[in-house]
Amino acid sequence: MTSQRPDGWQPDQYARFRAEREQPFYDLLNLVEPVYAGRAVDLGCGTGKLTQELHIRTMAEETIGIDRSEAMLEHTEQYAGSGLRFERGDIAAFEASKLDLVFANASLQWVEDHASLFPRLAAMLRSAGQLAVQMPANEDHPSHAVAREVAQQQPHADALDGFVYRHAIESPEWYAEQLARLGFAEQHVRVQVYLHRLPGPEDVVEWVKGSLLTGYRDRLPTPDYEAFEAAYRDRLLTILPNDRPFLYPFKRILLWARKPERAR
Ligand SMILES: C[S@@+](CC[C@H](N)C(=O)[O-])C[C@H]1O[C@@H](n2cnc3c(N)ncnc32)[C@H](O)[C@@H]1O
Repeated sequence: MTSQRPDGWQPDQYARFRAEREQPFYDLLNLVEPVYAGRAVDLGCGTGKLTQELHIRTMAEETIGIDRSEAMLEHTEQYAGSGLRFERGDIAAFEASKLDLVFANASLQWVEDHASLFPRLAAMLRSAGQLAVQMPANEDHPSHAVAREVAQQQPHADALDGFVYRHAIESPEWYAEQLARLGFAEQHVRVQVYLHRLPGPEDVVEWVKGSLLTGYRDRLPTPDYEAFEAAYRDRLLTILPNDRPFLYPFKRILLWARKPERAR
């Protein structure tokens, strides 16, 4: 059984669909060019397993993994060393300069206000520095829409004090324009659909328990969260077909951009 964590993240639950969750990381990493002896940061690094992969593949001299979840960071010790280290911190308050790579896999959707976040990230890069970001963009699937619907029903709306969680993502077009305005010389922005074959529709609940629903687990006392999760499960399973295997299409935005060789 996974233990309840005060920060909402449950590393065991997140790792239940490890292969499916890791594929977008590798697709993003494939867009990144080595930074040979440079400095990289992995924002929202989670357990650090993939940060180590990033550190090795980019050949960075120094990589820092940043995360605000103690539950996730507890796992990072085994990966630290050889220029890789981990620090507890909030992406919203993170400051750095002259980085060669800012990397964020499946984390920036939790950070509000991308109109101010992206200029801050761009300003952390040196000339020829790279920004690489992957974010889920599945807000229109019932797995996400039903969570918003249940959050607006009683008694959950009162327990949540009117809060409805929505990932802080913009459209792919918005990111393309923003990257150009921020002075990136090259860019690649795409939406990719990852088609997951789950044993049944009830596994969609297990999936979102490890990600989206942490946005509610963070804010509710355990009994209220359990009532919310039960209502979510009931509603979702009346909507989804009882197909086995169950096809769960999941859209993600992948973006990569590089600054000019010399600042303009
Ligand atoms: C879906 S996990 C992804 C972890 C890792 N990047 C991976 O690909 O396995 C999202 C991570 O972002 C972290 N996170 C979310 N919001 C954050 C913030 N504002 N500051 C720092 N970390 C944050 C969470 O604690 C969690 O570990």
